[in-house]
Amino acid sequence: MKEVRYRAQVFKNPAYLGSSAARQWFEAVKVLKDNQPFNVALSGGRIAAPFLQEASALFGKSPDLLKRLNIFWADERCVGPEHPDSNHAMFQENFANPVSFPDSRVFRFRGEDDPDKAAKSMASTLKVKLPLNSRGVPIFDLIFLGMGEDGHVASLFPENMAEDLMRSDRHVFQVVASKPPPQRLTLSYDVLEASKHVWALISGAGKETALRESIGHHGQTPFARVIQARVHTEILTDIAIHDSV
Ligand code: 6PG
Repeated sequence: MKEVRYRAQVFKNPAYLGSSAARQWFEAVKVLKDNQPFNVALSGGRIAAPFLQEASALFGKSPDLLKRLNIFWADERCVGPEHPDSNHAMFQENFANPVSFPDSRVFRFRGEDDPDKAAKSMASTLKVKLPLNSRGVPIFDLIFLGMGEDGHVASLFPENMAEDLMRSDRHVFQVVASKPPPQRLTLSYDVLEASKHVWALISGAGKETALRESIGHHGQTPFARVIQARVHTEILTDIAIHDSV
């Protein structure tokens, strides 16, 4: 009997999902020992904005917890930081500005730079800012993922599942993706595998097949690869894969 490597929390709708995810993140930071930083990587996608709005309301009332956060990204589009497609811009609007979050603790991908240079720069930042595992892979406290209809997570798409993305000492890659805008920067699989926690916030129509495949024992999607590589992955979804909470 293969062990189950995930837990799925099913919510009635995106609003409940985003609110609960924000509360659970807040509670996870609350239990940290004094002054311990919380290194988190965020993802984009339609659930990200409502989730971050809810999180800003919680962290905004708790300056002591807010100052523990170091913000990174699971992926970013190769655009400038104020471009409407930028995940960083979405974070600024929905979290940083409402709580006056300092730029000094936001470690964004420089999407405006040459992608290869930006990828190498972020990989260096991760190695300096984060603890490393025995294989030299940066360890996040928590990585938030979304999932697309094709089972992609971060900007790891089915069309870029070459072995070099799977096991690499580069940790950050530039990819050309099927989801617009195509030029993206993404954490690689080994960083997703090494994270203490991975929470996938999965919302939206048309994803049930990919989600069911990803949690199945023989899934071949990018998300399936993450689940199979980790001891545990938390899934928070509004897709009725079992009873709603
Ligand atoms: C991005 C994301 C990407 C996203 C999924 C889900 O920058 O686009 O990081 O991985 O989370 O594509 O997006 P939707 O929830 O909008 O379908």
